[in-house]
Amino acid sequence: PQLVHRVREILNDHKGMEGPLLPILHAVQHAFGFVPQEAIPVIAAELQMTRAEVHGVVSFYHDYRDHPPAAHTVRLCRAEACQALGAERVAAHAKAKLGVDWHGQAHGVALEPVFCLGLCACGPAAQVDGKLVARLDEDKVDAILGGMI
Ligand code: FES
Repeated sequence: PQLVHRVREILNDHKGMEGPLLPILHAVQHAFGFVPQEAIPVIAAELQMTRAEVHGVVSFYHDYRDHPPAAHTVRLCRAEACQALGAERVAAHAKAKLGVDWHGQAHGVALEPVFCLGLCACGPAAQVDGKLVARLDEDKVDAILGGMI
């Protein structure tokens, strides 16, 4: 109810605007950090669109998230030098541990690929919540994820 109330306020602010969907989604994401599922039928009804149409727009634009942002982000390097040092094996381990693929998130951790972090000589490299990590192996992945999940 709280959420729907806030969404209605946002809809009100955009009344009479032409092409309001994107600015509305933007405002909703700004308010909640993502576009909650419950907001979609409210927006759809107001704009006389189907839920599927609104949902389609949310998933089409990468700027919009349909789930809360993860508390932690682990970026694993997939570029050549790190690959040669076993990055794929380390990535497979991280994916299995989290139970997600690239761009997935679980237990508050988002797993993202990245292409070169400038640590090529001491890969496999990663960036964990913004901090660079070198010489990753399965044990380090366990230690990193263990502190998060
Ligand atoms: Fe991975 Fe450069 S290739 S850090």
